Amino acid sequence: MENKLRVLVTGGAGYIGSHAVKTLHEKGYYVAVLDNLCRGHRKAVPEDVPFFQTDLQETDRIEEILRENKIDVVMHFAAFMAVGESVQCPIEYYRNNTGGALSLLYAMKKAGVCRFIFSSTAATYGEPETTPIYEDQRQLPVNPYGWSKWMVERILKDYGKANPEFGFTALRYFNVGGSAEDGSIGEDHRPETHLLPKIIYAALGKDEKLTVFGTDYPTPDGTCIRDYVHVEDLIAAHILAMEAIKPGDQKFYNLGIGHGYSVKEMLDAAEKVLERKIPVVYGERRPGDPARLYANSDKAQKELGWKPLHTDVADMIESAWKWYKNHPNGYPD
Ligand code: UFG
Repeated sequence: MENKLRVLVTGGAGYIGSHAVKTLHEKGYYVAVLDNLCRGHRKAVPEDVPFFQTDLQETDRIEEILRENKIDVVMHFAAFMAVGESVQCPIEYYRNNTGGALSLLYAMKKAGVCRFIFSSTAATYGEPETTPIYEDQRQLPVNPYGWSKWMVERILKDYGKANPEFGFTALRYFNVGGSAEDGSIGEDHRPETHLLPKIIYAALGKDEKLTVFGTDYPTPDGTCIRDYVHVEDLIAAHILAMEAIKPGDQKFYNLGIGHGYSVKEMLDAAEKVLERKIPVVYGERRPGDPARLYANSDKAQKELGWKPLHTDVADMIESAWKWYKNHPNGYPD
């Protein structure tokens, strides 16, 4: 039998983690999920995938899970991810995102698990000096969320230096959207803050209107520009990174498609795909939003052989729409 890696996915009941679980499972990897279900949904994980409702702080229990499931590699998605909330609740963000990763790494150290794929973020760059953003650009986060992830990158570098057996890849996501092709799993944050789901909520009448945050940015149409990467492409990069990882690796890759869309362009694209007018109100800027964020992802493409297949946001909108149409209230509670 082919010797496939055995994977633990933390946060496997969350939006991005559940897409990783689905793909790994379909590709025949042994996959187990660790999630405390404080934000995730049990229904997002297939019944036949081993599921551990465990918090990241439970170091000893995690060590046991790693040993019992003979895990080779950890994909670490479990984290809080709302920028605004991180400003209100920095302690919770540092505890869960930074402290949680530290506890997990300690459990891995004790269990002798030496491969780690980390969900990092474009928020570690803060307000970029120039765009597109390259991996070696200055990292200066502008909110606790970004710092909480930046600190994990720092810890990983130090641990990697001290332990040559350990190899990691940190993937810095830009704006992730879309759903699995079959519409079976999708995005269900409560409350939702992200642009694409909010556009769809307004289209479905779940929200009265979409508020566009700011129209006076120094961009061609005055609205913010972001790099939207399809969740399935994002997961493909994780699997390539996981397969490529070697002892001593310390890799960092941007995951974006390298093209920026403004909020207005996203709305136009959504109106075409959804074949309806989206009710919109133009509001003030949201504090902490940089005008323009988009990636240069050449490094991931060159070194990992990553090739995003969904380079048109219409694909992403279409797949997200499929999920929301069938699950207007998200996952059952
Ligand atoms: N926006 C609106 N109205 C909304 C929601 C968003 O106009 O109702 C705008 C925002 O102002 C921003 C753009 O749409 O210009 C995208 O906003 P999102 O909230 O969808 O995403 P962010 O760019 O703020 O954040 C995302 C991830 C973070 C990550 C960051 C990295 O959610 O976790 O990208 O760049 F840190």
